[in-house]
Amino acid sequence: MSTLVTGIGELVTNDDTVGPGLGVLPDAALVVEDGVVAWVGPASVAPDADRRVDVGGRAVVPGFVDSHAHLVFAGDRAAEFEARMTGARYDGGGIASTVAATRAASDAQLRARLAALVAEMRAQGTTTVEVKSGYGLTVADEVRSLRLAAEVTPEATFLGAHVVPPGADRAEYLALATGPMLAACAPYARWVDVFCEPASPHAFDGEEARAVLTAGRAAGLELRVHANQLSAGPGVQLAVELGAASADHCTHLTAADVDALAGGTTVATLLPGVEFSTRSPYPDARRLLAAGVTVALATDCNPGSCFTSSMAFCLALAVREMAMTPAEALWSATAGGAAALRRTDVGHLAVGARADLAVVDAPSWLHLAYRPGVPLVRTLDL
Ligand code: NIG
Ligand code: FE
Repeated sequence: MSTLVTGIGELVTNDDTVGPGLGVLPDAALVVEDGVVAWVGPASVAPDADRRVDVGGRAVVPGFVDSHAHLVFAGDRAAEFEARMTGARYDGGGIASTVAATRAASDAQLRARLAALVAEMRAQGTTTVEVKSGYGLTVADEVRSLRLAAEVTPEATFLGAHVVPPGADRAEYLALATGPMLAACAPYARWVDVFCEPASPHAFDGEEARAVLTAGRAAGLELRVHANQLSAGPGVQLAVELGAASADHCTHLTAADVDALAGGTTVATLLPGVEFSTRSPYPDARRLLAAGVTVALATDCNPGSCFTSSMAFCLALAVREMAMTPAEALWSATAGGAAALRRTDVGHLAVGARADLAVVDAPSWLHLAYRPGVPLVRTLDL
């Protein structure tokens, strides 16, 4: 079954053989066969297909790739948000309350919440999402978090080293998270992650993070790191040294951190919804881009530091608050996210890519940043 998508006012391909930057094709059409892009070009020369879908002159972009999300949890922390908005600081301490609620929830409750959030994301144009564990923090609760995550995405991430759970001994917990917990979780995960943040009494320092990541790699997992969120700690340079796919947050960077990212293969994933929701200074995206670092944007959707599922909102924040150009922001929310997940099949719309199409209810993709907060994007199920 082939489908011709036509009436595309502007097609963002992220294909540099089409054009520089976003590879934008005006008055375009695209043929999808078995869920894969089979042809892209001007509508005037489009081939025939079994059926035809006309998007009425709207812009079409690659579906968003949200490479950082925490969606397996119960409870909410609206009161913590309210306290922050009247001056309280974020330090990760609230994670404990989500851990308690998550442990108390049934599988069915966690699965329903996860499905609702994935549907909410999809309804806003996100077609690939990474999902972390990290609110269970016992062997059984981490395993079930990852089992549920793996039901909705191949991008499931073991984050047993999110924080030291309340009441646990730090060294004993680290031994568990790098030993029996890791062994039990690895079959359900692609990635291992760690909250490396010496400035938080709850999270992990550089040497602890190194232990988590090297054990994870030995168990067959690929690496990603929560790095430099609250302070210029060792996370970013550790991520680059170990060849992690992504260093996420990158809010506080030294010149040496930027140099390391520029000289390595690690993507810098910026999460501006977190700075918005914790009322913190934004990362310096311009400095990273000037140094030639690959930048991704993601939501970090989670009940504590940022409870948005909207990539379009994060894209608008990146433009307004981090001085990314609209084109840089859209690239980072699509192709950048794909790079952060080491995926070559998503984040672009060249022949051979997955046909993850997002339709913008506007004549131009620019409206994504131009009309912040307006639900313009939907996915096209073909
Ligand atoms: O990415 N930094 C650590 N983890 C999450 C927040 C988790 C939470 O507060 O519940 C983050 O910001
Ligand atoms: Fe996170």
